[in-house]
Amino acid sequence: MTTRTIGIIMNGVTGRMGYRQHLVRSILAIRDDGGLLLPDGTRLQVEPILVGRNAAKLEEIATRHGLEHWTTDLDAALADPRWDVFADFAVTSARADALRKAIAAGKAIYTEKPTAETSAEAFELAGLAAAAGVPNGVVHDKLYLPGLRKLRRLIDSGFFGKVLSVRGEFGYWVFEGDWQTAQRPSWNYRKQDGGGIVVDMFPHWNYVLEQLFGRVESVYARAVTHIEERTDEQGSAYEATADDAAYGVFDLAGGITAQINSSWAVRVDRDELVEFQVDGTDGSAVAGLFGCRIQPRTATPKPVWNPDLKDERDYRGQWLEVPDNEEFGNGFRAQWEDFLRDLVAGRPHPYDLLSGARGVALAEAGLRSSAEGRRIDLPELALPTGAEPRLQADSADSADSAVGTEPTDKAARTETVGARA
Ligand SMILES: NC(=O)c1ccc[n+]([C@@H]2O[C@H](COP(=O)([O-])OP(=O)(O)OC[C@H]3O[C@@H](n4cnc5c(N)ncnc54)[C@H](O)[C@@H]3O)[C@@H](O)[C@H]2O)c1
Repeated sequence: MTTRTIGIIMNGVTGRMGYRQHLVRSILAIRDDGGLLLPDGTRLQVEPILVGRNAAKLEEIATRHGLEHWTTDLDAALADPRWDVFADFAVTSARADALRKAIAAGKAIYTEKPTAETSAEAFELAGLAAAAGVPNGVVHDKLYLPGLRKLRRLIDSGFFGKVLSVRGEFGYWVFEGDWQTAQRPSWNYRKQDGGGIVVDMFPHWNYVLEQLFGRVESVYARAVTHIEERTDEQGSAYEATADDAAYGVFDLAGGITAQINSSWAVRVDRDELVEFQVDGTDGSAVAGLFGCRIQPRTATPKPVWNPDLKDERDYRGQWLEVPDNEEFGNGFRAQWEDFLRDLVAGRPHPYDLLSGARGVALAEAGLRSSAEGRRIDLPELALPTGAEPRLQADSADSADSAVGTEPTDKAARTETVGARA
């Protein structure tokens, strides 16, 4: 069976997302399975090069997983034609500069969200990628959650009739770090380091809302810092300068109203850490990370408000669980696979830098709404050019030649990019 290999620069693999979700659960899992099976029956193998600032940590990860390539020299990796894709999972504040360099080097781009710290920068990056013709994708992992995939199934079946409203609850208690260590990195709670729940979560809410229900046309949000002092990884107290909760109302195209509460200062009384309730004329659903339950119009009970009588009804018991009916793998891996398939097929990935920019724009509008105490409209974003994305070596050849074909390419890949030199 023919196997082609695609080289992926993985920037920020020592971090939480970079290591667990993108390296171990996605790229190494695909690699261990012998690559990705393509529609023509051939396989696309993946070869990562780990990039970061700390040589010792990179070497340790490379050794632990039997990986050949790592480097602290991002520029050298970007200049090396063996690497086709630049993937970024480093801190948000370092992202725009890295993406600009990678686009200039002609690499295909795959990146965590938010794609930049400001919508102007995020939009600029989307424009640069389009003008350079580089394929690009942005992590839209929530769309790949089993619960939201079942919700998508319900929408596609016409289950809801007319969708009226969406209510989302996201959050959990993030420890302050003093008497119990915090379960999230401290930069998340410092605005000056790119932290804040609006910046973190509104990009997710933007693609969830627009992909499932309709474009976000305006937002009203209240962003607050409930816990004002936290303790960092070194045990030092620091001022939490970023918002740790946001209460948002989003007006969607088609007249749907969405409300989403996001909080790192809430204790969980839900079945899952995120849940969306969707109410429609013909039925309602509550979707979480994994589960999704429904109540059709025809099975809707008739509660009667009576404060004089204790209500013995089991409201939760009146819902029906949507079955899986398929196997849902890791969502980050599933999107990587979609991205790679789009890449080798030479078609745009639907969740691109422009979609990422819309997410950043929503976060920015949410913070502005909170600061100004008013609703903010979101204009439609469009790129000036419609340049077709292509891989860097594509200019003269087909997409297939941009990724190597064994055995010649494999031989080339057995050399390091000077990583250990
Ligand atoms: N899709 C999701 O659900 C999701 C969830 C959490 C975080 N994220 C995003 O992933 C990214 C990383 O978040 P994380 O939680 O893994 O953070 P983390 O702090 O665990 O990891 C950050 C990584 O960036 C590196 N880094 C730090 N400062 C840097 C700098 N100045 N230049 C280059 N690299 C630097 C660190 O060494 C580390 O490898 C963020 O952009 C965040 O918004 C996405």
